[in-house]
Amino acid sequence: MRQSSDPVQERPARPLPTERPAGCPFDPPSELATLREEDPVSPMLYPDGHIGWLVTEHVLTRQVLADARFGARADLVHSPLPRAGAGGSVRRPAPPGVFSQMDPPQHTRYRRLLAGQFTVRRMRLLADNVREITAGRLDAMERQGPVVDLVEQYALPIPSLVICELLGVPYEDRDRFQHDTEVLMRMGTSREETIAAFVAVQEHMAELVAAKRAEPADDLLSDLVNGDGGLTDEELINVGGVLLAAGFETTANMIALGVFALLRHPDQLAVLRDGPGITELGHADPIVEELLRYLSVIPGTVRVAMEDVVLGGQEIKAGQSVTVSIPAANRDPEQFPDPDRLDFGRPVGGHVAFGHGIHQCLGQQLARVEMQIALPALFERFPGLRLAVPPEEVPMRTDMLIYGVHRLPVTWEPVA
Ligand code: HEM
Repeated sequence: MRQSSDPVQERPARPLPTERPAGCPFDPPSELATLREEDPVSPMLYPDGHIGWLVTEHVLTRQVLADARFGARADLVHSPLPRAGAGGSVRRPAPPGVFSQMDPPQHTRYRRLLAGQFTVRRMRLLADNVREITAGRLDAMERQGPVVDLVEQYALPIPSLVICELLGVPYEDRDRFQHDTEVLMRMGTSREETIAAFVAVQEHMAELVAAKRAEPADDLLSDLVNGDGGLTDEELINVGGVLLAAGFETTANMIALGVFALLRHPDQLAVLRDGPGITELGHADPIVEELLRYLSVIPGTVRVAMEDVVLGGQEIKAGQSVTVSIPAANRDPEQFPDPDRLDFGRPVGGHVAFGHGIHQCLGQQLARVEMQIALPALFERFPGLRLAVPPEEVPMRTDMLIYGVHRLPVTWEPVA
C-alpha cells in the first residue's frame, strides 16, 4: 500500500492508462490493477498539463461520486482524455441545460424535471417499442446475411431507434445525429470538427423543439416543451442534446461488446440461453449487470475538489481534478472476488458502470430494458451465431471515449 508520507514528487504523475493488455479485449489496462493495489489515489497528468488524481479503488470511487465537496462543473474540471484537439484545455461553464456538467442547485432543478419524465409508464411503452424494433432488426439481419456487421445492423440501430422514440425524433433524422455524436465521442477530434458537430446537434434539436411546440406528441421532448418546467428554448435544445449524446453510444457499445464477450465465453452464453432467463424488465438481473461490470465501457468520469479534501489518506487540493476509473473500480477484488472472471452466478449489484451519487445515469432503466431484450433475442433467433473473423481481427474502439467494437462481423447457418 502507498505510504502516507510519500511526497507527490516521488510518484510521477502519469496519464490515464488506456492501453489494454494484448489479446484480452475485455480486460482494462493492466496498469490500473497495479495502481489500485499500490497507489489507489495516484497523481495523474491530464492532457492539458494539469496535475490531478486518479482513483482506482471501488470504495474510494463511490466516496468521490457521493461527496458534495467534489463538483462536476465544466468550467472547473480538466478532461482526463484528449478532446477537441486542444488537449482538453478549453474549460467553460456548461451551457444552460447541460446539467451533467453542473452542480446543485442548477443540476437538481434539471434532474428533477427529467426524472419525472422517465416514468414507469413511458418505460413500459418503450419496452414494447424495443421488442418491435429488435424483431425488425433480426428480420433485416436474416434477409441480409450471413455475414453481417452486428454493430451496423443490430447494436447501433436499436438504441438509436429507442432514443428517437423517447425524444420524438423522426427516425429519418438518425443518420444526422449518429454522425454528429460519433464525432463528439471520438478522442483527438479537431476543435473545428467538434464545434461543427455541436452546432449540428444544436440546430437539429432547435428544429425539433420548434416542431414539438407547434405539434405536441406523446414523447419526452413534447412534455418538456409544453410542460410547466419553465425551460427556455436554449435549455430544451441542450437537454435534448445531452440525452441524445448520452443515450445511444453507450448502450450500442454495451450490446455489441456484450455479444463479443458472450461469444468468447461459451459457458456463460449457455447460462443466457438455457438459464432462468432475464428477470423483470428494467430491474437489475444477473446477466446484464455482470456484463455492465465486466465490460465497463465508460473509462471514467471526472470531478473537481471544491475545497481541500483528504481522500484515502491523500490530500487533494481545492481545484485539482479527480478522475475515477470505472473499469478499475468494477474489477476491484475487494468488492468482486475473482474480478476478471465473467460470471453470471455472481451476486447482483454494487458495480459503478452507471456511476454513483447525484449524477448516476438517468437512463439506466432504459439501457437495462434494451440490453435485456436485445441480447437474448439475438441468440434465440440465431442459436448458432458465431464470429465471422478470428477474434483478434475484431477492431476494438481503443480510439474512442466509449469502449467497444467498431465492427463485429458475425455469421450463422442459414435455415435451408
Ligand atoms: C449501458 C448504457 C449506459 C451506460 C454504461 C451509462 C453510463 C453512465 C454513467 C457512468 C453516468 C455518470 C457520469 C458521471 O457521473 O459523470 C451516466 C450519466 C448519464 N446518463 Fe447514462 N449510461 C447508459 C445509458 C444511458 C441512456 C440510455 C440514457 C438516456 C436515455 C442515459 C442518460 C444519461 C444522462 C442524462 C446522464 C447524466 C446524469 C446527471 O448528470 O445527472 N444514459 N451514464
